[in-house]
Order: sequence, then C-alpha cells, then structure tokens
Amino acid sequence: MNRIRGKCIISSVIDKTSVIGSGCNIVGSVMNKYSYCGDDCQIVNTEIGAFCSISDHVFIGGAEHPMDWVSTSPVFQNIRHSGPKKRFALLNLPKSKKTIIGNDVWIGHNVTVKQGITIGHGAVVGGNAVVTKDVPPYAVVGGVPAKVIKYRFTDEIVEKLLASAWWSESDDVISSIARDFNDCPTFIKNYMGESYAIDE
Ligand SMILES: CC(C)(COP(=O)(O)OP(=O)(O)OC[C@H]1O[C@@H](n2cnc3c(N)ncnc32)[C@H](O)[C@@H]1OP(=O)(O)O)[C@@H](O)C(=O)NCCC(=O)NCCS
Repeated sequence: MNRIRGKCIISSVIDKTSVIGSGCNIVGSVMNKYSYCGDDCQIVNTEIGAFCSISDHVFIGGAEHPMDWVSTSPVFQNIRHSGPKKRFALLNLPKSKKTIIGNDVWIGHNVTVKQGITIGHGAVVGGNAVVTKDVPPYAVVGGVPAKVIKYRFTDEIVEKLLASAWWSESDDVISSIARDFNDCPTFIKNYMGESYAIDE
C-alpha cells in the first residue's frame, strides 16, 4: 500500500508542474518543469532540468563526511542536523559540490549520484547504480560504479536532439510537436526542418 507521508523541502525551488513524492528530503535544490521524483528520495544541492523522471529511493548529491580529518563523525563538525546532539568542536566543513542533472534524464530505482556529478541531457541511469563519474548526454549507464552500457541513439540523432533543445519550448509548442515524440527522425524533420533530416 502506498501511504502518503510527509516530505521536507528546504531552500529549494520546485516548479509548479513538478512533483515530489512522499518521504523525500529536498535541500538547496532546483527542479525544473514537468520533472518528478518518487518516494523516499534525498536530493541535496542539485539542479535538476525539465522532464526528468526520478524513481523511488534515489539519493543525489548527499553530504560527504571529511575522510581526511581525524574523525568523520559530525560531533566535530559545525552542522546541527546530523547525528548525535553533542558537539566536541564546531569545525567548518568544505563547501559541498553542486550536482547537475540535465533535461529529460531518467534515473531508475535506488540510485546514488555522488555530489559534484553532471548527468547529461537525455541520459538514463539504470536501477541500483552508483554514479561516481559524469554521464554523457543520451548515455545509458548502470552498475556499481556506473559505466556506459550503451547510447540511446546514434551520434547523429544525439547531436540533433541536443541542438533541438526541445525541453526549452513553451507548452504550446511542445503540444504541437508531441505527436512525433515516439519517432526521433520524424520529430527532428518536422520540428527542425528538412535540412536536419536524418541520413537513413
Ligand atoms: C538500464 C536499463 C534502462 C536498460 O534497459 P535495456 O535497454 O532493456 O537493457 P538490457 O536489459 O538489454 O541490458 C543491456 C546490458 O546492460 C546490463 N544492464 C541492464 N540494466 C542494468 C543495470 N541497472 N545495472 C547494471 N547493468 C545493467 C545488462 O546486464 C546487459 O548487459 P550485457 O550486454 O553484458 O548482457 C534497465 O535495465 C534499468 O535499469 N531500468 C530501470 C528500472 C527502474 O529502476 N525502474 C523504476 C521505475 S522508473
């Protein structure tokens, strides 16, 4: 049974067309139009593009404990929200790195994306992956650590889809081209013009 539970959204901008699932913590992040994340996600210091599909239990940009200090424990750190209440010192942590998720990215179930990573437009991250390196546009990656499995399209189609930047269009324009979204060559020809037609 899918119970509706609370969610916590702090210092973040979520587009009014986007949806955050139950039990999520979203901190210092931006989610652009028509994107969503499922239940129990943690997204920190991350910019998410438009039309992204993020499954349940996805962790993006999570905090990293200082591995080069004497201790990794938060009881020596100047943060109030983590771990035991006791503080032996209030040492400042280095600033966390921003994570960037492009437009039209699909992230599968139970994925972790390390902070500071960029996932390119149109990429797919397979279920249970741990993403430790940047992901090129339209790549499909999977595994621990995530590696490229394949690309969604040929280089020629990828180049044209990137040039189209269709995700930046208004709702009216997207409505008028949406009927071709199940056929890339037809979409590219109709939206970008005859001179962009794909060589068959
Ligand atoms: C990544 C994914 C999209 C690939 O789907 P696909 O194109 O049908 O891929 P295939 O099953 O043909 O697999 C291609 C190769 O990638 C591997 N692979 C597929 N998914 C993988 C994953 N999540 N992690 C690691 N390797 C994976 C396969 O083992 C196969 O390897 P091989 O070529 O050595 O045999 C899919 O497997 C996946 O993970 N989907 C996410 C599902 C999910 O989380 N849904 C939640 C709701 S949104």
